[in-house]
This record gives sequence, structure tokens and C-alpha cells, in this order.
Amino acid sequence: MDGRSLTLLSFILIVTITQAFAQKKSYIVYLGHHPHGSDATIEDHERAKASHYDLLASYLGSEEQARDAIFYSYTNHINGFAASMEEKEAEELTKHPDVVSVFPNKIYKLHTTRSWSFMDMMNNMPSHRGSNKANLGHNVIIATLDTGVWPESKSFSDEGMGPIPSKWRGSCEDNTKNKVHCNRKLIGAKYFYKGILELSPNENVTDSARDDLGHGTHTLSTAAGSFVPGANFFGYANGTAHGGAPDAHVAAYKVCWAAGCSNADILAAFDAALHDNVDILSLSLGSGASFSGGTDFLNDPIALGSLHAVSRGATVVCSAGNGGPDDMSINNAAPWIVTVAASTIDRDYPSFLKLGNQHIIKASSQESESLPQNKLYPFINGSDAAAPGLVNVTEAKLCNTSSLDPEKVKGKIVVCMRDLEIARLLKGMTVKDAGGAGMVLVNNEYWGDLIIADPHVLPATMITYNDSFTLFSYMKDTKNPKGNISPKDTRIGAQQAPAMAEFSSRGPSYVTPQILKPDVTAPGVNILAAFTEVVSPTGFDEDKRRTPYAFLSGTSMSCPHVSGVAGLLKAAHPDWSAAAIKSAIMTTARTRDNKHMPMRDLATGNEATPFAYGNGHMRPTRAAEPGLVYDTIVEDYLKFLCTLGFNSTYLRGFTHDKHFDCPSKPMMLENLNYPSISVGALNTTIVVTRTLKNVGPPGTYYVRVDAPPRVEVVVKPKVLVFSKVGEEKKYSVTMTSRIKEESQEGYKFGRLMWTDGKHHVRSAIVVNVVSS
Ligand SMILES: *[C@@H]1O[C@H](CO)[C@@H](O)[C@H](O)[C@H]1NC(C)=O
Ligand SMILES: *[C@@H]1O[C@H](CO)[C@@H](O)[C@H](O)[C@H]1NC(C)=O
Ligand SMILES: *[C@@H]1O[C@H](CO)[C@@H](O)[C@H](O)[C@H]1NC(C)=O
Ligand SMILES: *[C@@H]1O[C@H](CO)[C@@H](O)[C@H](O)[C@H]1NC(C)=O
Ligand SMILES: *[C@@H]1O[C@H](CO)[C@@H](O)[C@H](O)[C@H]1NC(C)=O
Ligand SMILES: *[C@@H]1O[C@H](CO)[C@@H](O)[C@H](O)[C@H]1NC(C)=O
Ligand SMILES: *[C@@H]1O[C@H](CO)[C@@H](O)[C@H](O)[C@H]1NC(C)=O
Ligand SMILES: *[C@@H]1O[C@H](CO)[C@@H](O)[C@H](O)[C@H]1NC(C)=O
Repeated sequence: MDGRSLTLLSFILIVTITQAFAQKKSYIVYLGHHPHGSDATIEDHERAKASHYDLLASYLGSEEQARDAIFYSYTNHINGFAASMEEKEAEELTKHPDVVSVFPNKIYKLHTTRSWSFMDMMNNMPSHRGSNKANLGHNVIIATLDTGVWPESKSFSDEGMGPIPSKWRGSCEDNTKNKVHCNRKLIGAKYFYKGILELSPNENVTDSARDDLGHGTHTLSTAAGSFVPGANFFGYANGTAHGGAPDAHVAAYKVCWAAGCSNADILAAFDAALHDNVDILSLSLGSGASFSGGTDFLNDPIALGSLHAVSRGATVVCSAGNGGPDDMSINNAAPWIVTVAASTIDRDYPSFLKLGNQHIIKASSQESESLPQNKLYPFINGSDAAAPGLVNVTEAKLCNTSSLDPEKVKGKIVVCMRDLEIARLLKGMTVKDAGGAGMVLVNNEYWGDLIIADPHVLPATMITYNDSFTLFSYMKDTKNPKGNISPKDTRIGAQQAPAMAEFSSRGPSYVTPQILKPDVTAPGVNILAAFTEVVSPTGFDEDKRRTPYAFLSGTSMSCPHVSGVAGLLKAAHPDWSAAAIKSAIMTTARTRDNKHMPMRDLATGNEATPFAYGNGHMRPTRAAEPGLVYDTIVEDYLKFLCTLGFNSTYLRGFTHDKHFDCPSKPMMLENLNYPSISVGALNTTIVVTRTLKNVGPPGTYYVRVDAPPRVEVVVKPKVLVFSKVGEEKKYSVTMTSRIKEESQEGYKFGRLMWTDGKHHVRSAIVVNVVSS
């Protein structure tokens, strides 16, 4: 992979340098590790910086030019710099023996969707109240690389918080009048924008980590927000909000701005967060493309930064991306990252449209106010209420801005048609501005039954295309058609959940199909969490509402759920490695829903597969006592990278073993001690090995196998006896293809479980069977 990507890079460079006027662009030059250890002195940092100037000067001509060109020197843990230079110079640099990789500074994107409806994930978490303090994330530091933080949110109140951990070396940096103030809960806030300014020179940046987009406040409070009673969104999902690890300390590293997140800023934030000694890093963002930075470990600051993190004992949790339901749409697929998919929860928000003839139509809404229920309101079609002088009456049918006649719609429920241009929420604003009492939004034929619970500014609801015939025939056949919209309601448990969200990115992983991705799924649809009070929850300037809590959807939202639980595990088991924490979360996940049926995929309506959910849906309480874990030491990842073509000289920096060498016989990628098993291509037979480590009481574990169709699976031995904590036992899995013809080829799914009767240690098995 290494060779291929470098060849591709050189190819691009050669093609472009033939242009007459070479243009400067920004690049990241990655040099691996620093010779100085983790306790670098000021002199060490200066020395590192000087070495970056020296290195670049030898290409640009003078040290002065190098100083001008470099906008970041990474001097803490990550060795490298970001600089503006010509493509030819970047190409030359890749040949320098100290340079590991050179890749362009580019924009990564947040993994949120602008889809709105109503559910509250928080109450789906186990109640941590009354359990012992260590289980709440005590003394753990969770950081997000995101859009910053709204520090005034109650979710970041430090009431009842313990002292700031002594290991903390970070700070609250802010150079604005309206400062971000830190406390014992929010212990750090830093901002990074030099990279985004290179790419988007007019970007509105401030010297502050204050969140003016809402995403960062949402993810940080989901991971570790304090208990906040009475949190709700205009009355929906009213309850006590809290993050996964409510007692953990949090730090916000702002790397995302309105234009996106620059990967040079992301790497700078990794370097700062590792210096500051965070335990968990949560990243709800990615390259967007599964074929570029998201998977090419050498050219991706998230893969590189997280390998540095894991080698220091920190856990990195990332969103899988919102590129679903396409295959191979996974972002952040490096095996040392926890990659999180998104699924629904069991809370829904029923809404009904009542007609004067007693007929009731099931609808969908997230209105911010409800109509009084003691009377009926006249219906009027938007097309019958065009504003005087409106040139194009179609605009009234669609309830475009200023298209309605206040005289005609006053006190009525206006029926508006959905279209592909005018935002649904704007239609509601039009009706409200014209004095309408409420709105019924009618779906168009294209979207059919897919109705969305939008946070409308007035009493409103949406009906399916099919149901519009019922409504319109009632309106036609009745002299004074009237109706009402049911008051807002929140219902728990009725909805079959979890189910895989359509948008959630799917496996297999593009670069390494030998590692199953995503790893797990967690709630990511209609998640209520803290929000900024700078912008409206709908993102529209016209919407003047401000809410301390708001609903968002995306793998951006599922990721911090897992980060919070990783924080709980770190607090409960400070000695566990990042791999052990990940294993505990993965092997205790479930694949059935609340109706005891196999989890469904909302994209197809069928049973979901491990390419959608990995090992399954996270179960926080079980993750605390997994019984056994698949542990991985950093050297295992290095051997994995050796097989991918990485140079051992460079890999040596990641380990204490200064004599580390790539094994003479390359390790088989399938043999990384991973909590799931994925075979890239099986034509005859493959033998995969795994090692289990006991982290629970002594026990005798028996294996149970649910073999993938047309694959014979033999596990040896079938019984593993553990007599003490920390004991390790190996087993092998022999998989043999039993397909008879080409038409039977393809990905097959199965499962394997070790159990002592009390603990259930589950792994997904994915085998790509090809004919030999
Ligand atoms: C690895 O890089 C070093 C110097 O950076 C070089 O001397 C060595 O030959 C490289 N090894 C391999 C196997 O490519
Ligand atoms: C820049 O951001 C500040 C603070 O959010 C805002 O007040 C200002 O209007 C913005 N300016 C532009 C040009 O968007
Ligand atoms: C939320 O619930 C609390 C406690 O039950 C109650 O006091 C409060 O009025 C509720 N708020 C809303 C907006 O429903
Ligand atoms: C009227 O508006 C609709 C919706 O924007 C548009 O499709 C149509 O072309 C317009 N008609 C005229 C005559 O401009
Ligand atoms: C809606 O109205 C705006 C002006 O207020 C106009 O620019 C736009 O084209 C209209 N959209 C449609 C679909 O007619
Ligand atoms: C459409 O509506 C009719 C009448 O309300 C109903 O009988 C029919 O099943 C609906 N079709 C679909 C696809 O929902
Ligand atoms: C209301 O308007 C829609 C869209 O133009 C149309 O299909 C429907 O027949 C109208 N209904 C009545 C009762 O006029
Ligand atoms: C079968 O798989 C092995 C190992 O992956 C590979 O080396 C070999 O070329 C494959 N044979 C065929 C016929 O595909």
C-alpha cells in the first residue's frame, strides 16, 4: 500500500509540475517520532523546530524562507511540520531519508447529518447513578477534536467534580473578550486554525475554542456531560441528560470551522492533546472519501496521530462516516482506532393529524409548540392562499418565503407541498410569518413514505404522499374542512430498535479488508445533547430560536457514546491498554434488537450484517466485565504495518524496543489479535490464530461457532481454562471453503463465542469466499 500510494503521489506531482507557474500549496511533512522522549524540555522543542527549519531550508534555499513557509512545527510527540511550498519541492522532500511521508493539507468533514426528528439517547444508557464513583469516569480526561465548546452549558458545570487530575498539562487558551473559562469539568480548551487559513483564507476564525456551530458542544457533552435534570428540546425527550462518563474531565480542541477541518490542524491538536495527557480522544470527523485519507494510513493525520496516541496508552474513538449504505464507505479504518457506526434507539415522537370527520392520519413532527386541543382549525391549501401580486402561484403551493396572503391564512392550518428546493423548515416559517395557526407538510411523490420529524417553529406535522389523497379528498368533499395536530409526545420502547441507520458507513475496509470495520455501533439517530447558543438548532438564520439542548444525527453522535464508555472502562481498569478497552466494548456487543430479532438495516429493511455494525451494538455495563480480552501490544500493530510495507527504521520510534525489526516472514494481516475475524479472500483453507487474556475470575471457557454459510470452521482447542488474571491462551480457527461454483462466491457472515456460562466473548466472522 505504501509503495502504491507513493507512486500515485509522485505521478500527481510529475503531472502538475509541468505547469508553467508553480503554485504554492500547503503540505504536511511527517517525520515519525522525536528523539526526545515524552518529557521534552524547552530546549528539546527548540531543537526540534530548528531541525525542521534546517530540513526545509535545504530545499527552499535559505532558513529565512523555511521559517516563512512553516506554519506548524509538531514538536511534542509527533515529529513533523506543515508548510507552504511548491509541489516540486514537496516531491523532492519525499525522497529525504528522514521523511516518512508528505501529504497535502486538506479539508476533513464533520460526520453529522442535517436530519431531524426526536429521540433521546441519553436515557438509553444504563443508569450510572448510585454505582461506585470509579465507574463514572473519575480521574479520566476525555478530549474531542471538533468545533469547540459552549462553556456556559450546564453539561460542563463542575458541581460535584473532583480535583483536576495531577497528570493534566493542558490549559484554557483564549484571546477574546468573551473568554472560554475552564473549571474542574472543562479543564482544557485550545484552538487551531493555521491550516484552515491556508485552504480558506477568508475563514472567520477567532482566537477562541468557543463553539459557534454546535457540533463540538454536542459531542463533548455526549461523551462526558454532567448530569443535567430537565434537559429537553421544546419539551421533547424531557429528562436528565448526561454523558457516557459524567464524572470524567473534558477538554475541547477546536479544529473545525465553518469551512471544515484542516488535517494540518488535526495533527497539531493530536500533538497538543498527547502532550496534555488526555486518556481518550474522540473524533467525529474524517476525510469523507473512503479511498483517500480515511484509509491510507501513511497520509492520514488521524491514522498517524492515533498510532502515536495508542503507543502512549490513550484510546482513540472515531466515527465511521456517513457514506452509507454504499459498500466500502468506511472512514478511519486503522486497526488501532475504535471505529463507530450509527443506529437508532427505541424512543419515538408520535404525531397525528386529526380530520374533522374523525379520521386520523399518522404523521411525523418535532414542532416547538402545540395547538390547543379543544377546537378544530380550518384547513387551507397553500395554492389557494397566494399573496396578492404573487407572479408564480406555484410558490404559494410550496409555501415559499412571502408567498402567502396573511388575510387568507390567519388562524388556519395551511397545507404546503414538499419540493426539492425550498427547505421544509422555511415553509413553516412562511406560514408562521403570514399568521397561520399551523402547517401540514405533504410529502412529494419522490420521497413517498419517508416523513421527517422536523423542529418546526409553529405547530406542524408531515404526512406521507399516499396519505395526502385522504387529506385532499376530505378537503374537496367537505364544505368547511377542519382539523388539528396532536400535541407533542415522547414514547419509549414501542419502536423496534436498535436498527442500522441508512447513512452509517459500511465495510469492508478498502485498504485492509483483513480487519473488519466498523467495530461497533452506538446510538446516532436523533440524539439530544448540549448545544451552542450562538446559532439556531436548525442552522437557519431566519430561525431565531436558541436551545441549550438539541437533536443531531450522524456517526458523529454515536462516536462520543463509545468515547464516554471507553472513559468509564479506563476509570474502572486504569491498567487496561487501548486494545483491551476496545476488545471489551466489542466482544460484549449485541446483534439482536429490543424485540429479540436480528438487528435490521433501515437501508434495506433486511437483517443487518457485520459490515454495518461490526461486532454489534455497544452494551456499556457488560463491557465493564468482559471476562476475556483480545489484547494487542504496539509491536503487533508495527508488524501489521511491516506487512503493509512500512520501513522498520521509522516504526522503531513507536516502541521502547530500539532494536525492533520487521519479522523476516511477514505477518498475515488476518492474524492481528483483533476482537473480530475477517478473511480478505479465502479460496481453499486459512488458519487464523488469536490470543485471549483473562481479565476476570478464573474460569473454563467453551467455544461455540456459528459458521458462515459454505465455510467449514474448526476451532482448536475447544476449551480454554484460565486459572488467574492476566493469563493468556491461544487458539486457532481453521476455515475451509466449501463452495462448489462461482455463483456461491462472496462475503459470508458467521460468529464465534467463548463462554464460561457467565461471560460471553463474541466475535463476528467475515469471510470473502473466492473460487480457487
Ligand atoms: C528504511 O529507511 C532507512 C533510512 O530512512 C534506510 O536506510 C533503509 O534502507 C530503509 N529500509 C528499508 C527496508 O527500506
Ligand atoms: C464572524 O464570527 C463572529 C462571531 O461568531 C460574528 O459575530 C461575525 O458576524 C462573523 N463575521 C462574518 C463575516 O461572518
Ligand atoms: C421536565 O420534567 C421535569 C421533571 O419531571 C418537570 O419539572 C419539567 O417541567 C419538565 N419540563 C418540560 C419542558 O416538560
Ligand atoms: C413557478 O415556480 C415553480 C417552482 O419554483 C417553477 O418550477 C416554475 O418554473 C415557475 N413558473 C414560472 C412560469 O416561472
Ligand atoms: C422562493 O423565493 C425566492 C425569493 O424569495 C426565490 O429566489 C426562489 O427562486 C423561490 N423558490 C422557488 C422554488 O420558487
Ligand atoms: C395508501 O393509502 C391507501 C388508503 O389510505 C391504503 O389502503 C394503502 O395501503 C396505502 N398504500 C401504501 C403503499 O401505503
Ligand atoms: C391542494 O393543492 C394540491 C397541490 O397543488 C393539489 O394536489 C390538491 O388537489 C389541492 N387540494 C384541494 C382540496 O384543493
Ligand atoms: C489462493 O489464495 C492464496 C492465498 O491468499 C493465493 O496465494 C493464491 O494465489 C490463491 N489462489 C487462487 C487460485 O486464487
